[in-house]
Amino acid sequence: MKFDTPATDNPIDQMKVVGRAHDRIDGPLKTTGTAPYAYEWHDEVPGAACGYVVGSAIAKGRITAMDLHDAEHAPGLLAIVTAANAGKLGKGDMNAATLLGGPQIEHYHQAIAVVVAETFEQARAAASLIHVKYLREPGAYSLAEQKPAVTTPPEDTPDKNAGDFASAFAASPVQHDAIYTTPDQSHMAMEPHASLAVWEGDKLILRTSNQMIAWCRSELAKTLNIPEEKVRVISPYIGGGFGGKLFLRSDAVLAALGARAVNRPVKVTLPRPMIPNNTTHRPATLQHIRIATDEKGQITAIAHESWSGNLPGGTPETAVQQSELLYAGKNRLTGLRLAQLDLPEGNAMRAPGEAPGLMALEIAIDEVAEKAGVDPVEFRILNDTQVDPLHTERFFSRRQLIECLRTGAEKFGWHRRNATPAQVRDGRWLVGTGVAAGFRNNLLEKSGARVHLDAQGNVTVETDMTDIGTGSYTIIAQTAAEMMGVPLEKVVVRLGDSDFPVSAGSGGQWGANTSTAGVYAACVKLREAIAEKLGFDADSAVFTDELICQGDRTAPLAEAAASGTLTVEDSIEFGGLDKTFQQSTFAAHFVEVGVDIATGETRVRRMLAVCAAGRILNPKTARSQVIGAMTMGVGAALTEELNVDKELGYFVNHDLAAYEVPVHADIPEQEVIFLDDTDPVSSPMKAKGVGELGLCGVSAAIANAIYNATGVRVRDYPVTLDKLI
Ligand code: MOS
Repeated sequence: MKFDTPATDNPIDQMKVVGRAHDRIDGPLKTTGTAPYAYEWHDEVPGAACGYVVGSAIAKGRITAMDLHDAEHAPGLLAIVTAANAGKLGKGDMNAATLLGGPQIEHYHQAIAVVVAETFEQARAAASLIHVKYLREPGAYSLAEQKPAVTTPPEDTPDKNAGDFASAFAASPVQHDAIYTTPDQSHMAMEPHASLAVWEGDKLILRTSNQMIAWCRSELAKTLNIPEEKVRVISPYIGGGFGGKLFLRSDAVLAALGARAVNRPVKVTLPRPMIPNNTTHRPATLQHIRIATDEKGQITAIAHESWSGNLPGGTPETAVQQSELLYAGKNRLTGLRLAQLDLPEGNAMRAPGEAPGLMALEIAIDEVAEKAGVDPVEFRILNDTQVDPLHTERFFSRRQLIECLRTGAEKFGWHRRNATPAQVRDGRWLVGTGVAAGFRNNLLEKSGARVHLDAQGNVTVETDMTDIGTGSYTIIAQTAAEMMGVPLEKVVVRLGDSDFPVSAGSGGQWGANTSTAGVYAACVKLREAIAEKLGFDADSAVFTDELICQGDRTAPLAEAAASGTLTVEDSIEFGGLDKTFQQSTFAAHFVEVGVDIATGETRVRRMLAVCAAGRILNPKTARSQVIGAMTMGVGAALTEELNVDKELGYFVNHDLAAYEVPVHADIPEQEVIFLDDTDPVSSPMKAKGVGELGLCGVSAAIANAIYNATGVRVRDYPVTLDKLI
């Protein structure tokens, strides 16, 4: 199905099943421990050997000697695979560094060997007996040090200009010019990266934990130099991804190589302390923001430039994305700068671009609003734009930032706020409130599905879409139930298998809208097949209560499959509506904090998010996405930071003991409001995504609340207590 004109009324609008709060249908499997995760397919694949990954102890240089003798004689040892004996490997298109390094070393903890033994403990013990000699080479590890030398944009991301920023800025009565920084961050998904590889002849079956089945399959085939048809990837349950599992990583490659070496199934998990340096992370940014307004607070000039670093072949953090679209202003400048660093690879983490971009921009907006003497909520409303400021003929499909701000202000009690900082005390706490806008683009990806109707009237959906804890199983079941007019209990959803049609996968918050739209398309086809079989007209027939109805004629759906299961397949393809309209999602975040007058410790006291993101397919799973994202925003604001050793070039605090994420006790009441909305331009589902939107802006709202509480403006995240006293 080609989607190239705005959606009209369709069966999804019935909202008998879609749009209802429904528990996750995979919930009982997960809470009872019966959902198999990548490392846990004991019954399906008995007798797997265990691989333990050895990571490089230097950040840059080369291996001069690798002595395997002691390790090879360790108990239980089956094989040691290194770049020297793995055979010639290819390289995928999506990883900057090689996933099995050596002799050249590109970053700290780059995998240099996998040790395969009977048990995990034996593999780990043997790995400790490998003696490696390195020749260290100097590397670049500090973004701040590299910044002055990086003055031009990367080739494929030119600066975007409108009007004359410099003159307009200089001529404006209110000016703000400041640098903001965000640190390197780690996804820290609960389930570590893990893979279980089985070779059946020359065919590889990989059970793994990956957000994007089709990407994983083709990247793995390229890396192993085998045809894609010889790879099957299975990933039905995933314990969190956040972008850290978008790409093929070393666990998958090394499980495949290990299994080939020992000729039996091998499973590999990355131990927690290995993950931040071995896999990807959100790169640190250094952001220069300049905003000027007239006397009334109307933005006259806005510039946002962002520096980030990456390995050769890596991409920049696109932290200026939202600044191109969020506020009006005739004179504009946005640009990205990319420094070459020898730190581990930077890549997507939840709301890449907007999340760190808004951490900076939304503090800057607070600062310029104060300079202009305008309330921060009103300032954002005053500077709203209904068109893409760079292409003024291009409208947003839906844009309700103003409604989000007004609804939130009312609900949060914003009018009670004291705008003068450091005026409100509650015992030992200085209390303050802050606001920030949330913004995240709505991306569209092709997505396919297969649906079956059997003789009992059951509908089975198959797609390689993944569920990373987001609720994909549930919203896909709701979509099929609505389309086919059957109760949810009659729908079976099977996900995460490369034998199923290729979906949009779980990334960029496009998964909910586009994967259900693919299922919608397949269900339209199934309705046609059923109508034809039973002599109905597909366009005017109604599918309800497990029946197909037309006029006074009805027939049970199951009848269409009486002589054999009906199976159809289709996909949704998007035909350019995203070029005609700018499609984005919007939010307003309101936060109240208390800052300890003596220690400077911040406690979040109250959080409210108001989101406008098209039709909400399931308010319960959507709310879970947003409160999870708000929690991530608390971590980003207050604690999360990978500390870079600028001499040796690695992330020092590479475990959950020292990389601090919020725990339940850190999180107060969180409230989420979804504006009642449909967006017919986004897909037949009229939905968008919320999983990343929920994070966008949260941290700045917290930083702004801390300023209101204390009068201390911190522009470097995380806002730890040492920066407040
Ligand atoms: Mo998201 S960072 O595209 O999983």
